[in-house]
Amino acid sequence: MPTINRRAVLNGSLAALAGLASGPMPAIAASRGRGDDEDFWSNVAFEYDLEDRYTMMNGGGNNPLPRRVVSALTRYLEYAASAPRPNNYYLLNHRDQHRGRLAALMNCGPDELALTRNTTEGLNTVASGLEFERGDEVLFSPFEDRYALSAFEPVAARSGIKLTVVDLPVPPTADQVVEAFAERMTRNTRLLCVSHIVDSWGFVLPVQRLARLAHDAGAELLVDGALSFGHIPVDLRAMGCDYYATSLHKWLNAPLGTGALYVRGDRIEDLWPLYGVRADAGDISKFERIGTRDGAAVAAIGQAIDFYEQIGPERKAARLKYLLERTMAGLSDASGVRVVTEPDPDRRAGLARVVVDGWTGKDLTRTLLDRYSFFVYGNFPGELDGVYISPNVFNSPGEIDRFVDAVREIARG
Ligand SMILES: Cc1ncc(COP(=O)(O)O)c(C=O)c1O
Repeated sequence: MPTINRRAVLNGSLAALAGLASGPMPAIAASRGRGDDEDFWSNVAFEYDLEDRYTMMNGGGNNPLPRRVVSALTRYLEYAASAPRPNNYYLLNHRDQHRGRLAALMNCGPDELALTRNTTEGLNTVASGLEFERGDEVLFSPFEDRYALSAFEPVAARSGIKLTVVDLPVPPTADQVVEAFAERMTRNTRLLCVSHIVDSWGFVLPVQRLARLAHDAGAELLVDGALSFGHIPVDLRAMGCDYYATSLHKWLNAPLGTGALYVRGDRIEDLWPLYGVRADAGDISKFERIGTRDGAAVAAIGQAIDFYEQIGPERKAARLKYLLERTMAGLSDASGVRVVTEPDPDRRAGLARVVVDGWTGKDLTRTLLDRYSFFVYGNFPGELDGVYISPNVFNSPGEIDRFVDAVREIARG
């Protein structure tokens, strides 16, 4: 039977219940911490207990959790399991506290942010919840095939809407993206749907300009933010989108099965929820009525937010970008190697695709793992097949340099 600090529960203190100190980590709080301030970043890395068989560089896929999130999650789980009826609900009651903090980080109203389980749930809520008419059209970037597009396919099959994928070069510039969408819009265009940061490439799409374009034509914008929140600063008011779906278990490093869906205040009433809810739920909570859910995972979002706030959104973005740019610099003169990512350095984030002549992404993935212990993902059949890399804050410059050496060695054959 786990020891539960009952006084902490009575006092309503989730941090005390987790048995954790809630103050800032001194080393993190004290440092100036630029992207290349190794004293600062080695303290951040120390917050993770990492599997020592691999060097993980797949932050865009799944992420290890900081130790404090794991500890809190474990304690909350024990607490919920010991008496689910009161305890799991007690944990879930902290939703509003986390919602408020997340809304402040994303710059939206707490009454516009639903706590979902992941990006997929958010994308499907919007796809199934909009009232389309036969002949309506949704425009996608060509980079949405793995996620957003599939949320709309059943809707298209059922209600006769048209899904159009806009052509773009690889990599695309911001102007090319906006021009291509502008050219493809018609009277029937109802929605534009793009990723904020593109999966497996790292392009950062000009979502603010696309929101203006959509609104000028009476359409709306849905942003797949799976890879942006917790990676680069996200300001939803400035972005101006209508819907933004993200996963907190990606770059925020919150527990698996936690996500958020932003629905602009004036769009909430007209968007149907994915699940049936009682008529009294007309506010943002109608998107959260999914039945029983894991209160421990929801409660431990708080520790992930603490960690992110202590690092700081700007500082984290600077570090992720620094690690990617170090990789790019290391491979810039490697023959037979291309690093493809966001072309504009001012907009660049921390993800990219590494392509090696004569290698499929699958073989490259396997060799990087078997011979060099790097955990990355790659299987993108086509002209630029390669591996998708996205180092996280626990990766050191030394690991990046080792990765560069490994890719060079592989390319030399
Ligand atoms: C761009 C993008 N959208 C959506 C998803 C799906 O995220 P989840 O499985 O957390 O719903 C991913 C996952 O990698 C992604 O990269």
